[in-house]
Amino acid sequence: MGGLSRVFVSRRLPGPALGRLEAEIWPEAGAAPRETLLARARECEGLLTMLTDRVDAELIAAAPALRAISNYAVGVDNVDLEAATARGIPVGHTPDVLTETTADITLALMLGIARRLVEGDRAVRAGEWRAWEPEFLLGRDLHGSTVGIVGMGRIGRAVARRAEGFGCTVLATRALPLGELLERSDFVTLHVPLTPDTRGLIGDAALARMKPTAYLVNTARGPLVDQEALARALRFGRIAGAALDVFDPEPLPPDHPLLEAPNLLVLPHVGSATIATREAMAEMAVDNLLAGLAGERVPHCANPEVYGPTRRAP
Ligand code: DGY
Repeated sequence: MGGLSRVFVSRRLPGPALGRLEAEIWPEAGAAPRETLLARARECEGLLTMLTDRVDAELIAAAPALRAISNYAVGVDNVDLEAATARGIPVGHTPDVLTETTADITLALMLGIARRLVEGDRAVRAGEWRAWEPEFLLGRDLHGSTVGIVGMGRIGRAVARRAEGFGCTVLATRALPLGELLERSDFVTLHVPLTPDTRGLIGDAALARMKPTAYLVNTARGPLVDQEALARALRFGRIAGAALDVFDPEPLPPDHPLLEAPNLLVLPHVGSATIATREAMAEMAVDNLLAGLAGERVPHCANPEVYGPTRRAP
């Protein structure tokens, strides 16, 4: 890089990676407010953003010097890729490093909801465990069940490997229409990116096709699921339960009506939240940003068409 680039990082990141950047790092615990992001964007050549930052056409237009965006996530639904590409700005993201960790938590959610782990924990603490009871907290087995994977990308495949290890039959939308997968699965787990086509993918109609004994698991993006439809399906026992790591909106307010639904296990978007994985994501995000600022090809680029035939590939 010739001279210092003006770089803004919208959150502190775990591990040493940010030490490789000359950057202003948003120092507070919560997200940088939109006005701050817009103000910094006006002066910046590089932005390292979180999945909670809206990097939309307005923000990109407000940033005349912007040359590289690096998103600290594999998903880039918070970034207007088209607007970035139109300006010739590469957008880095963090695939692969979080695949296995996210697949682990997907299995944890399947087991957690089907074997009623949170209810069991609460029962012990509340003094409700009075005797060993043949019918106390009965759940359903993951082993030997049919697991339907919606989206056989990196994370979907990693979930499939784990489910096979549990002796499950794996169904995938790659091989089967969604409706048939929903009808045959004991667990339906979502691993598609959020796009205009997948928004609301699991609504009343999809939930109606699931077995009343089946569970829905979502570790991808909240808006894939119509939460009002899900709350109805849980309340009327149309499905056995749901385990969610992602919501719309995030954070989900504690008084959100969805949380009144029964048989629901919730986590605060922690699919990739292990020390090793979040540090690896930080290294990758910094690599991506440094490459973009240096005018080199961004190693993990979500809009590779920015280097397409109409543009000179570095
Ligand atoms: C992502 O990377 O897209 C996850 O949702 C957070 O790790």
